[in-house]
Amino acid sequence: ARPSLDPAFSSWHFLLDGDGNKQLLGVGGFGKVYKAFTDKRQTVAVKIVRLEGASSARLVDEAIEKENAEISVLKAIRHPNIVQFLKSERIKKGKLCIFTELISGHSLSELMQLQRRPFDEAAVRDFSKQICTALNFLHSRSPVTLHRDIKCSNIMLTNEGLIKLIDFGLAKEVFATMRSTKTECGTTYFKAPELYNEDGRIVYSPKSDVWAFGCSVFEMLEMQPPNWQLEWYRIPLRIQRHDMPQLPAGTSALLRDFYGRCVKREPRRRAATAELLEHEFLQ
Ligand SMILES: Nc1ncnc2c1ncn2[C@@H]1O[C@H](COP(=O)(O)OP(=O)(O)O)[C@@H](O)[C@H]1O
Ligand SMILES: [Mg+2]
Repeated sequence: ARPSLDPAFSSWHFLLDGDGNKQLLGVGGFGKVYKAFTDKRQTVAVKIVRLEGASSARLVDEAIEKENAEISVLKAIRHPNIVQFLKSERIKKGKLCIFTELISGHSLSELMQLQRRPFDEAAVRDFSKQICTALNFLHSRSPVTLHRDIKCSNIMLTNEGLIKLIDFGLAKEVFATMRSTKTECGTTYFKAPELYNEDGRIVYSPKSDVWAFGCSVFEMLEMQPPNWQLEWYRIPLRIQRHDMPQLPAGTSALLRDFYGRCVKREPRRRAATAELLEHEFLQ
């Protein structure tokens, strides 16, 4: 039988390093991720989301409630290319712990930094196949499940070469009001044009995941997201009025076509994940 993780733990503690500090797995815009050990004798990852600057307690409650509703959906998802959610727990005021499977490996953005170079086409093909398989699985579920925050720092590669999507954009709409603008700029580069509408309400769709995936393909080949040279506040107008930047010189025609289908401005003309899986680049 496949070893399984038990989400029914009741107590846990942080694992510490030689200096007695919590073992840090990574830092993102949302919070810090540490190693934790449960009373089911399993080692897991725990993300501590701080809701600082949340002036209104009601807003925090609302965010956490929404987050919890989503986590119960995510808990039911079992896929080899998607991190397994275990549970979430609220500690103290305005702090949320999200427990997931512990992944041994690095995010694609860390890997590029560590090897000091982008990925070659063979790697992009391998990763893209696995990412599209995971997204297609999510998008085919009922109700449709979206990732909402696809980018290289949210895509991990295990030491064995298995892709794992992490960091679902849970209740991002609610959290967005509390997050620092610094983190908001980070994700701006991956947002589809249709997400900037007049009333400011963000409605994600499977096609906005595909757009972000296309931007991640660019990032795998350039080590920077599309339009990285522009200030973040210039991005919305840029992508609503211009085509997306080309992939670097030397990229094959097949990969250019694949990327082009992901970043079509008009969502209806943009490829769905099922179509991407059939694309010649992935064969
Ligand atoms: N389950 C995990 N196992 C191992 N490392 C992880 C795990 N989850 C996150 N990390 C590391 O922590 C970093 C930040 O985590 P992430 O969930 O993306 O947080 P944020 O919402 O703050 O961006 C990731 O880029 C990755 O390096
Ligand atoms: Mg992240």
